[in-house]
Amino acid sequence: MKLLVVGGGGREHALADKLRRDAPDAEILVAPGNPGTARLAENVPVRANDLDGLERLARDRDVHLTIVGPEAPLAAGIADRFAAAGLTLFGPTAAAARIEASKAFAKRLMRNASIPTASFRTFEDADAARAYLDAHGAPVVVKASGLAGGKGAFVCATLEEARAALDQILVDERFGDAGETVVIEEFMEGEELSVFFLCDGERAVPLAPSRDHKRLEEGGRGPNTGGMGAYAPVADGTPELVEAVRRTIALPALAALGEAGAPYRGFLYAGLMLTREGPRVVEFNCRLGDPEAQVVLPLTHSSLVEPMLAVARGEGIGDWAPATREGAALTTVLASRGYPVSYSTGLPITLPGGLESDDLRIYHAGTATREGRLVTAGGRVLAVTGLGATLREAAERSREAAERIEFEGKTWRRDIGRTEWSD
Ligand code: AMP
Ligand code: GLY
Repeated sequence: MKLLVVGGGGREHALADKLRRDAPDAEILVAPGNPGTARLAENVPVRANDLDGLERLARDRDVHLTIVGPEAPLAAGIADRFAAAGLTLFGPTAAAARIEASKAFAKRLMRNASIPTASFRTFEDADAARAYLDAHGAPVVVKASGLAGGKGAFVCATLEEARAALDQILVDERFGDAGETVVIEEFMEGEELSVFFLCDGERAVPLAPSRDHKRLEEGGRGPNTGGMGAYAPVADGTPELVEAVRRTIALPALAALGEAGAPYRGFLYAGLMLTREGPRVVEFNCRLGDPEAQVVLPLTHSSLVEPMLAVARGEGIGDWAPATREGAALTTVLASRGYPVSYSTGLPITLPGGLESDDLRIYHAGTATREGRLVTAGGRVLAVTGLGATLREAAERSREAAERIEFEGKTWRRDIGRTEWSD
């Protein structure tokens, strides 16, 4: 069996690690991969957005199954292209991936399917948006509709902040085409939860729910990032809650996409706010979360290869239900100083030997090898995942290892998962 993972971040390292465990004899390629994936698979220097190059690679190397990590190639139609070329790929088509790539599309779909979410309006005209904001007041959430790498959402406590966010999106065009349309949403209060579903077009099977920490600083302060750490299981994420999310959110979304002629096959990420009125959708993503994948995949005991292959072939997953490993997983992200705004790269990383074990996995996110040395190459550099019998044990393992890894400007949160226990 030959498998290809598309992408080169921490999520893709965790995917390659999971595939290596699920299919020990498989040949695994990662495009482009990173120094972490190079240790368990073959990296091929084709970028995740180079659809021509990826199609050629899958054909030339007789890949049996391609799994796409990030959203951009999915939104650009890699699944459509592979299907047209007779290649087997796990991930939604461009039409289905609009559930992430266009927030305006996702919000309308949710409204039409009565899926619980924040009320909203969309605007292309700055004056009309300003007038609406003035009438609505704060708190309010202002978002660029298109793909903005997790940086296009502004939770605004005051009207001034909301006006400034609007100007950045519609006037300064900070997000380019992704900000042609702005979505203004009701502010929802509660704790967040991420639930990933493996979907075959009709069925949606959940993996373990997890929680991401999006703010840069401890205590949930500072700007939103792609995610500074994550953990699973989450006390709030009971089986009853997950079943309610499947029934009232995932299945209606799949039905609506099916009716729209865009059946959804792949991982569907439901980003939820657990409000007093029950779970409501913050956003859908067309892929696994990063860094949530770095805890959810190590906790998934069952092999994902067979269900992904079935879905990629257009077959159903029947009554497949994954077993989850006992215990907990927690990941701490080590980021570059200045992330998420601007940061230097090329700084040497010291990874002490003997740190890694079955219960301590170091997933590479933004690293590179220069002249034989491991150096930083991105905003998020490493995700250090600890596994343990309890969340506390997993947290201690993750933190101790995070402490011992060194690079200049290492920026991290020591409080990932901290709200789950009291002392
Ligand atoms: P998004 O890009 O839509 O996932 O938004 C990024 C982050 O902004 C979310 O993870 C939430 O923390 C926050 N957020 C987004 N929309 C809302 C909302 N309607 N109410 C409260 N917080 C939100
Ligand atoms: N961790 C949030 C995301 O992957 O979108």
